[in-house]
Amino acid sequence: MLKITIDGHSTEVEEGTTILQAARKIGGEIVPPAMCYYSKLKGSGGKCRTCLVKVSKGSEKDPRPMPKLVASCSTPVQDGMEVQNITSPEVLETRKAIVEFLLINHPLDCPVCDQAGECDLQDLSFEHGVDTSRFEEGKREFDQIDIGENIKLHMNRCILCYRCVYTVNQITDGRIHGVLYRGDASEISTFIQNAITNDFSGNVIDVCPVGALTDRSFRFKSRVWFTRPMDAHRDCPKCSGKVTLWMSANDIYRVTARKDEFNEVEEFICNECRFEKKNAEDWIIEGPRTITRTSIISVNHYQKLKQGSIINPVAKKIEKPSE
Ligand code: SF4
Ligand code: FES
Repeated sequence: MLKITIDGHSTEVEEGTTILQAARKIGGEIVPPAMCYYSKLKGSGGKCRTCLVKVSKGSEKDPRPMPKLVASCSTPVQDGMEVQNITSPEVLETRKAIVEFLLINHPLDCPVCDQAGECDLQDLSFEHGVDTSRFEEGKREFDQIDIGENIKLHMNRCILCYRCVYTVNQITDGRIHGVLYRGDASEISTFIQNAITNDFSGNVIDVCPVGALTDRSFRFKSRVWFTRPMDAHRDCPKCSGKVTLWMSANDIYRVTARKDEFNEVEEFICNECRFEKKNAEDWIIEGPRTITRTSIISVNHYQKLKQGSIINPVAKKIEKPSE
């Protein structure tokens, strides 16, 4: 086992563990943000630089600090390594610059974006962003594309994290979707705009950290914080059937995979569960889901609703879930 200390907290991990994985093992506010790394997707990480940290001691054998900040999602732990994340002013300053960089082309359309309230970039900007932009040039603009009947691609919002590409490559058959072109011209595209029709293609919506890939059946139906996440399951022949239903009264507004405190899906779900089972009778409802990650929806106010709450205009119709 290898010992690592991050912001003064120590743990032991197996060889091959990255600094980010070690930080997640420790947990709490010392965990670096990650916009492209996704533990369920092989090869992910190394694209967005939000997870940069400072290695102040390389290892017990070679205690020299690393000369530059390193991507914690792709740097393996060495025995005796010491790392600074939130205790390093240099890291925090650089993270601000990374947020500014990510926002160069990302439109500030949160008021009309379905991802608002559960968007990793929105949360990252809130925590690390600056309130002004130095970017005066025009942002990249693309037409919106329907990827099949269930998914909408809004390329203007894409931060090119590659998660959706890895998802399609790793959990569906065949590859008809990827990143075309290079640099500023890069864009996510389906090969000659083929629809992704595979049974598991809907998972690209869940892995997208921003609102670039959205569920067409949910678009503009409600803000996520007005809906009530409920854990539910069904006997599904294709996937585990374990999902989160986002409900208002008895209506199911959308179905997603269950997500952990790092906003990663616990298990990928099939399109039948996600898009075709929108009646409460289709599911065995287990109870309210507590959102543990830091975001506006983690307030979990749906568990404490009062009659006529101004937070949720449909509160009167909602039966108060058992705690
Ligand atoms: S569409 Fe979403 S998941 Fe795919 S690369 Fe862009 S930001 Fe990442
Ligand atoms: S999460 Fe490490 S580079 Fe994106």
